Amino acid sequence: MFRLFGYDEAMNQQEMKILTGKGAVDALVSRGMKLGLGTGSTALQAVNHIGRLIQEGKLTDIRAVPTSLQTLIACEEWGIPVYTLNSKEILGRLDLTIDGADEIDGDHYCVKGGGGALLPEKITAYASAAYAIVADETKLVKHLGQAFPVPVEIIPEARIPVMQAVERLGGVPRLREAVRKAGPVVTDHGNLLLDVRFLKPVDPVEMEQELNRIPGVVENGFFTKLRPMIFIAHGDGVLEMRK
Ligand code: A5P
Repeated sequence: MFRLFGYDEAMNQQEMKILTGKGAVDALVSRGMKLGLGTGSTALQAVNHIGRLIQEGKLTDIRAVPTSLQTLIACEEWGIPVYTLNSKEILGRLDLTIDGADEIDGDHYCVKGGGGALLPEKITAYASAAYAIVADETKLVKHLGQAFPVPVEIIPEARIPVMQAVERLGGVPRLREAVRKAGPVVTDHGNLLLDVRFLKPVDPVEMEQELNRIPGVVENGFFTKLRPMIFIAHGDGVLEMRK
């Protein structure tokens, strides 16, 4: 565990997001990198900082792969050059991905997908030589999936059988409803999302595999197979890095 920076005054959650997003970029990003850029309000702070550094001429030759339409639009607005994992300039491998998380436990296992982008986020993370999670201290938990439901991306046609199979695994699934649009959330890849609450603590390593064994599940929000660096912003203004 390292402590990187300290400030004198107490921070609100938005300030903590800025602290961790900026801090991870300053610590890890350098000229010429191929970057995976995550989704959500915290990852967006890293994207904003990268954009600002590029605009100021302090960071050059960045090639970015965004993990959602949200992040793509942010990159376009900042003029961050965007590619896909399949682009000739990327060829399936990234130097680093920086992303947020909904929950993080003591093993650096995460729940992700609150922003609905877990599928491209997992693909991008696995294609990266280094992986960093940026979060504020409210994301730290003892057991994953208890307070924040685990998102599961599913093929629309499989909704009912997948929900039944999730219940057999001890989960309580709920179809994610859209806000300001009637009906369910449709992901950037045309799928639906179940938010699954587990009434008892589960083994996230096993549950990640079990959920993905259900026909019709595209991917789920347990991230247990990589060990990311974690940048945690604390309310006292300390940015902690856990390796
Ligand atoms: C997006 O699908 C998620 O995995 C986000 O990384 C996660 O929801 C964290 O979002 P916030 O930083 O907005 O809390």
